[in-house]
Amino acid sequence: MLKDHSLRSGIWVGAAMDSSQPQDQQQDLKSHFTALTSENAFKWSSMETFQGQIDFTQTDQMVQFAQDNNFRIRAHTLFWHRMQNPSWVRDQIESAADHKTKLLELMDARISQVVGRYKGRVDIWDVVNEPLRIDGKGWDIKDGLLGSANFFYLAAGEQYIDYAFAKTRATDPRAKLFLNEYLSRPALNDFKSQSLLALLTRLKKRKVPIDGVGLQLHGFGSVKSPFFSNSSKELSDYMKAIAKLGLHVEITELDISLPAVIKDFAAPGASDQQHLKLQANLYGNAAKACAQTSACSGITVWGLRDKDSWLNSFVPGGPHRPLLLDDNGSPKPAYTALAAGLLQRCHGITLNAKLCSEPWPNPQNAGVPYPARTCNECVKPALKNNILKINSLAWKWQRPIQRYSYQWMQSTMSSNSSYVAIHYATNSALFKPSHRQHLRWVKVCVRAYNDYGWSAQVCSSPRGPFRS
Ligand code: G3I
Repeated sequence: MLKDHSLRSGIWVGAAMDSSQPQDQQQDLKSHFTALTSENAFKWSSMETFQGQIDFTQTDQMVQFAQDNNFRIRAHTLFWHRMQNPSWVRDQIESAADHKTKLLELMDARISQVVGRYKGRVDIWDVVNEPLRIDGKGWDIKDGLLGSANFFYLAAGEQYIDYAFAKTRATDPRAKLFLNEYLSRPALNDFKSQSLLALLTRLKKRKVPIDGVGLQLHGFGSVKSPFFSNSSKELSDYMKAIAKLGLHVEITELDISLPAVIKDFAAPGASDQQHLKLQANLYGNAAKACAQTSACSGITVWGLRDKDSWLNSFVPGGPHRPLLLDDNGSPKPAYTALAAGLLQRCHGITLNAKLCSEPWPNPQNAGVPYPARTCNECVKPALKNNILKINSLAWKWQRPIQRYSYQWMQSTMSSNSSYVAIHYATNSALFKPSHRQHLRWVKVCVRAYNDYGWSAQVCSSPRGPFRS
């Protein structure tokens, strides 16, 4: 159901995973999700313990897995000062005569080698992760309890961010580039959220090639916040403020600790089922906030099954049971609530200019004709009184619809050439990519049939993992 709702709403739904994920959990991903994020594989220390000896085993596996199964893949992350850097990176920067020159040289090498290798196969790069201090008060200028000093910032100031984005864009021009930040209270009146908005405003002013912002939303400790409250408004207002800067926004690392939910919201003596229901409400609100913000293009949960959550090893007071699937991979109430929240995206949308919402994921993920025939939430409003209102030019006579058909336009990308659209008739077999091609874009056209004949065909603009 979750996957189906992801496809109907056009909101990517992903989970973080490692390449060592066992078979049954790979199956979880295939059954329920449309996107994935590498939990650790792309981090600097996972790839390059010793300088120049890059181990691509895990990242190769992951990118191939995504490609074979038509997942959107987000590579997390190129530059994160706080954790998971090999020690030689900081040592070399700090012992160089010119810290900034050395930093840019090392960044340059990492981007050329890693981004260069996966160019065209990774959909989103988390170029910079968590640049701000945890409390949002500026930058990490000293090592502290919460991790390492931001030695990138100390060497080059904000230019480290500018440089990382510019170089990544130049290396992989079609991928979307995100800055990912830890926010436990994303809201217009929250201090760290304001610091992030201010940073994004500066980046846009300097014309840094950034496409989107990831809001992590790890829920533990206290989950009484605008984001976890009974309303989704504060979160969607904050997302809209990001959208105003011309950026996509996504929830990138969602999890909600059950003990924290119990502490903040549960009545004494409530049952486990009631606790899970409370957790589900919070998940539902997060999904609604995204669905209500057209710039919100995805939601990713930070892990597949409860037992594998990072919270269980990092945060005392577990087991946290913070995810959508229980220890055995069965969907929890949170799963159903998240799926239902996504469909808010479809409310009130007519087939006027665009069909449903964007982006449209690859129909191969659906395993059914796409858009699904049961895409009620998207199609229904346009079928008011049994009349399909496509647009005045497209539809000559407003008469009851007898049937309508979809046509997909798939695209392939060969190794270095541009995209080519391939037209398909309704329900025909999906295109199978040949050697060195992989499917990427989808454009959907619809036309309706009444007793006077066919309407003209109306098409959505090409969509896919954001590329245009
Ligand atoms: O790979 C080694 C392995 O060789 C060794 O045997 C094992 C023994 O402890 O450790 C393994 O590395 C661990 C790694 O996860 C892979 O499992 C690290 O110790 C451990 O620190 C690391 O934790 C990750 C954490 O980031 C590190 O900062 C978590 O899995 C990961 O979920 C978490 O993810 C972060 C995001 O990247 C950024 N946002 C916050 C989020 C939660 O902290």
